[in-house]
Amino acid sequence: MHIPKSITETYELKNGVKIPCFGYGTYMFRVDHETSVDRIRHAAQIGYRLFDTASFYMNEQGLGEALRTCGVPREELFVSSKIWNMEQGYDSTIASFNETLEDMQFDYLDMYLIHWPIAYGHDDDWQFMVKETWRAMTDLYKQGKIRVLGVSNFLQHHLAVLDGEEVPVCVDELERNLGYPQDEIHDFCHENGIVTISYSPLRGINKEWPLIASLSEKYGKNAAQIVLRWNVQQGSIPIPRSYTYEHMQSNMEVFDFELTDEEMAAISALVDVPGPDERPRQHPDVDRINMDRHFKTKI
Ligand SMILES: NC(=O)c1ccc[n+]([C@@H]2O[C@H](COP(=O)([O-])OP(=O)(O)OC[C@H]3O[C@@H](n4cnc5c(N)ncnc54)[C@H](OP(=O)(O)O)[C@@H]3O)[C@@H](O)[C@H]2O)c1
Repeated sequence: MHIPKSITETYELKNGVKIPCFGYGTYMFRVDHETSVDRIRHAAQIGYRLFDTASFYMNEQGLGEALRTCGVPREELFVSSKIWNMEQGYDSTIASFNETLEDMQFDYLDMYLIHWPIAYGHDDDWQFMVKETWRAMTDLYKQGKIRVLGVSNFLQHHLAVLDGEEVPVCVDELERNLGYPQDEIHDFCHENGIVTISYSPLRGINKEWPLIASLSEKYGKNAAQIVLRWNVQQGSIPIPRSYTYEHMQSNMEVFDFELTDEEMAAISALVDVPGPDERPRQHPDVDRINMDRHFKTKI
């Protein structure tokens, strides 16, 4: 497997489109419009090219403003958003997608994902809803409004629902971090030509991990850089989120060292038990995201 040597490298997806090997996450509650726009614009200016958002994040207006004013040509950016659980289904997917484009003031999206294999009120026929949502996404793809279709939080049996579709699943965005590598589904995707994106990649970096501490010392890299490097070497695209300028810069600096196979395996083998104040690991078969997307004002 080729390991990217710089943040400018890309992976070629099943449909031939190239996706940046490293990205920037934008999900944050309680951030104001100015901060959101400033940080996303700064991220583009220092070299991030893949930007991850979702209708659920309520920040698509700010993201569009930041990227339209960052000075980087639109065609050099890779903008991704997601259809939320309450919006699955043919008509509502079309409507939600159009709202996303309108909020961003873009003509097209580089990528559009089904956020979860969960459609509210459809526990018994979620498969039907996933297929209807995909049908809408396929029509938008054919109209040239989306360049890449993908999913998020899909395990193997969820992916099976989309087997044989005319437009293939190119990407699966999964939570992958210290103590929660989800290597099984990552490996399955890799073997089947689906590129994984690692979300919440920095979760748990502040916990005490003797292994991570020793690797930090060995390579002169901080814990965030070690885990981001682990993602890169697995061929997964990490999308760290940071609103601190120093972190935004240092998180990108993971292309100048290489973990050994033993170190990679040891990181994958770490086990974590979330504390009582931490959100549980988000397994897609558990209906726990009981939130209306309009609980917050758009930024
Ligand atoms: N598909 C899905 O269902 C899903 C779910 C969750 C998230 N996501 C996506 O994944 C992105 C990333 O995940 P996330 O936002 O949950 O969290 P994350 O990127 O794992 O971690 C963000 C936190 O790490 C801190 N941080 C960043 N760089 C650091 C560094 N070098 N040293 C120490 N701390 C550092 C940030 O603080 P500072 O701001 O101070 O740096 C922030 O508190 C999201 O923004 C979103 O785009 C997708």
